[in-house]
Amino acid sequence: MFVLGLMGSPRRQGNTDLLLTAFLDGAQAQGAEVLKVDVAFKNIAPCQECRFCEQHGFCRQHDDDMREIYHLLRRADVVALATPIFFYGPSAQLKALIDRSQAFWARRYVMKLTDPKANFRKGFLLAVGATKGKDLFIGTSLTAKYFFDAVAASYEGFLGFRQMEEPGAIASHATALGEAKEKGEGLTGALAARRRCLFLCRENAGRSQMAEAFLQYHAGDKFDCQSAGDQPASEINPLAIEAMAERGIDLAFRRPRGMDQIADGDRPFDLIVQMGCEQSCPVTPSGRVAIWELEDPAGKPLEFVRLIRDQIEQRVKALIATAA
Ligand SMILES: Cc1cc2nc3c(=O)[nH]c(=O)nc-3n(C[C@H](O)[C@H](O)[C@H](O)COP(=O)(O)O)c2cc1C
Repeated sequence: MFVLGLMGSPRRQGNTDLLLTAFLDGAQAQGAEVLKVDVAFKNIAPCQECRFCEQHGFCRQHDDDMREIYHLLRRADVVALATPIFFYGPSAQLKALIDRSQAFWARRYVMKLTDPKANFRKGFLLAVGATKGKDLFIGTSLTAKYFFDAVAASYEGFLGFRQMEEPGAIASHATALGEAKEKGEGLTGALAARRRCLFLCRENAGRSQMAEAFLQYHAGDKFDCQSAGDQPASEINPLAIEAMAERGIDLAFRRPRGMDQIADGDRPFDLIVQMGCEQSCPVTPSGRVAIWELEDPAGKPLEFVRLIRDQIEQRVKALIATAA
């Protein structure tokens, strides 16, 4: 399980940073892999409103750090958006990232594609401001609500703290860091109870990617699943992406992963499904192992990829039914 923290303050070790760190500590205590991204120190250009993404599903500006952020947002099971209040909104650095998420909005609402994690990904806002106005968090929480909708996460609300001005002031607040930690624990804990499933194949570019996506799409609230390959390819097979898009399922921004990038963690996998990597698979399976005899669609035409896609979906549905 992967929890992504987007830190929107330009002040490291400031109030936002401390609050987000407490949230991520809580998530980590539940066994999650966590990553804090210092957004203010990334190179993220603002949206140019060229509307390229509405036609192609990708941003035309692809030479900055958003490339990585798109990937991380798609990997995340929980996203924490953390920001100081600047003129009743989020920081400009964070807002640039939010606006560039229009590419996700376009994929969802123009291209009608569903992110496989859409039915269980959670989003949460952490915010701090110096004043005590009652409307202090209204603008930012509305922005967060629509950001989370675009990135296919349910908006789980926010924690906002007033009268925090000096860097680190939040550490003296009686409850703030404890509340943030508890939130991180609570949101992650709800997902931590899911059964763990790992799909393995040679390149993690076709079969295991489609299986992972189908299981997340059909039963991601019950299964925490990942996929990997023993010889990971540089990118997902474009025909696998196309075949899944025909079913309305979006594999964009996902990447093949090596088996060494898979954390078995404190809790072993309940099920490991191998498809074509049985001979070379270096993983010592810690859970139940199933072997799915499926031909490798690499280098084959779209019609063939479709056949494999349909076989995988049937097997995934059977897996769900037997686990129920
Ligand atoms: C450009 C700028 C605009 C700000 N606007 C507001 C504001 O509208 N309302 C408010 O309460 N605080 C405002 N603040 C204060 C910060 O929100 C506050 O100091 C916060 O604790 C900073 O968090 P940080 O330590 O994570 O950077 C502003 C600060 C800056 C630098």
